[in-house]
Amino acid sequence: MTDSNKKTNQQWGGRFSESMDGFILDFNESVSFDRRMAFDDIAGSLAHATMLAEQGILSSEDVEKIHSGLKQIREEIANGAFHWSAELEDVHMNIEARLTELIGIAGKRLHTGRSRNDQVATDIRLHLRGAIDSLREYLRQMMHGLVDLAEQEYNTIMPGFTHLQSAQPVTFGHHLLAWFEMLKRDDQRLLDCRRRLNQSPLGAAALAGTTYPINRQRTAELLDFDKPCANSLDAVSDRDFAIELCSVNAIMAMHLSRMAEELIVWNSVQFQFVDLPDRFCTGSSIMPQKKNPDIAELVRGKTGRVYGHLMAMLTLMKSQPLAYNKDNQEDKEPLFDSIDTMAACLRAFAGMIPHIRANRKIMHQTAKAGFATATDLADYLVKKGVAFRDAHEIVGKTVALAIAKQCALDELSLSDLQAYSEVITEDVFAVLTVEGSVNARNHFGGTAPAQVKTAVAKAKAYLTQSQS
Ligand code: ARG
Repeated sequence: MTDSNKKTNQQWGGRFSESMDGFILDFNESVSFDRRMAFDDIAGSLAHATMLAEQGILSSEDVEKIHSGLKQIREEIANGAFHWSAELEDVHMNIEARLTELIGIAGKRLHTGRSRNDQVATDIRLHLRGAIDSLREYLRQMMHGLVDLAEQEYNTIMPGFTHLQSAQPVTFGHHLLAWFEMLKRDDQRLLDCRRRLNQSPLGAAALAGTTYPINRQRTAELLDFDKPCANSLDAVSDRDFAIELCSVNAIMAMHLSRMAEELIVWNSVQFQFVDLPDRFCTGSSIMPQKKNPDIAELVRGKTGRVYGHLMAMLTLMKSQPLAYNKDNQEDKEPLFDSIDTMAACLRAFAGMIPHIRANRKIMHQTAKAGFATATDLADYLVKKGVAFRDAHEIVGKTVALAIAKQCALDELSLSDLQAYSEVITEDVFAVLTVEGSVNARNHFGGTAPAQVKTAVAKAKAYLTQSQS
C-alpha cells in the first residue's frame, strides 16, 4: 500500500527531512475508513469556500474554481474513479490534493482559516446527521410493522409473564405495543441527539480560532447547522455527540435483543406462540426438522458489539486534554460500526415483523393455563367487600383445590368455589375467563382490546406526525 521512498506528505511535509516509515504510514492513515465521509467533507469545503469569498478572504475566481473542482471530485468519488492514497493520510488531504491537481494554486488556498481539526469535527457531525436520518427511517418502518400487527392482534389473548411465569392474560396487540413504546423512546433519543449535535465547529480552526475575518454564522447556515459551536477549544475536541449516538444505539440494541429473545422463545416447539417467516430463518445441516430463528439470534448477538463500541468511545475520550488529539481518529471505526450494525438489525426486523404469524389458538390455550385469572378472582372478592389480603388467602386455597382436582379455576364447580368464601355467586364465571380478565383492564395503558385499539390509533398518529 505504501512506498517509503516517496516524498513525505505534501500537505504538512515542509519541516520534515525524511519520509514516514512505511509501516507507520499505514498505522497513521485513516483514509481507509474516513473516506466514507467524503461527501460531507466536500459539503463542508463548499460552504467554507463560499464564506471565504463572501468575506473577501479569497477571490471569487478562486472560489469558483474551488467549487467546480470539488464538484468534479464528488463525481469521481460517486463513479468510483477517485484514486485514494494512504500516503495522503486521510479523506481531507486526499480531496485537497486532488483539488490542487485539478485547479492549481486556488486549491491550495481552500485551507485558509481552517484546520483539519475543525474540518473533521464538522464532517463527523454532518455524517451523523445523515446516519441518524437513515436509522430513524428503518426504525420507523419497524414501528409501522409493529402497529399493523398490533392492530390485527388487538384481541388475541396470550399469557402475560412476570419472572417468565404465567402471570395474567394479556392481549398480543398490547405486548406488541409495549415494544412500540420502547422504539418510540429510541426514535426520540435519536432526534434529541441530532438536535444537540447540530452545531458547526467550522471556524474553530486548529483550536483557538483564526486571524481571518471569517463568518461562522454563515458557514453554519450554509450547512444547515443551527448555530456555530460556542467555544473553539470545545468545538475541535468535543465528541460527546458521537458517544451519545453510540449510547442511543446501545439502548436500541438492548431493546431489539429483548424482542429477539421473546421471538426466539415464542417460536420454539415448546411455546409455538408465533411462526417466523421461512425467509427469515435457516435450517440445520444435520437435523432436518429444524427451523432456526437465526436472524433474531443474530440481532440479539450483535448487541455485544454495539455495547462494546459505546465503551470504546467513552474510554477513547477519557482524560484527553484539550483540545484536539490524534486519539480522536480512533472515534470513527466504532462509531461507524455502531451505525451500520444498528441499521442492519433494524432493517432485518423491519422486514420480518409484518410476516410474523400469531398462533392464536395456542396462545389462548396457554393463557388459560397456570391459573392466570387468580388475581381477577381476588379482585372479584374485594369488590364484594372482602379485604384484599383475605381475598389473596382465599384465592390461594382455591388454586390449591384446582391443582388437587387437576382443573382450571373456571372448571371448578360453584360449590367448590364457595368452599372458602360464601360471597361467591354464579357471576364469578364471567370473571374467571381470560376474555373477562383482559376486558376488565379497560383503562388508559391497560391490556383490554378496546384500549389496544385506541393505542394503535395513537401510535399511527405518532408515526405520521413526529417526523422531526
Ligand atoms: N484524520 C484525522 C482524524 O480523524 C483528521 C484530523 C487530523 N488533525 C491533526 N492535527 N492531525 O482525527
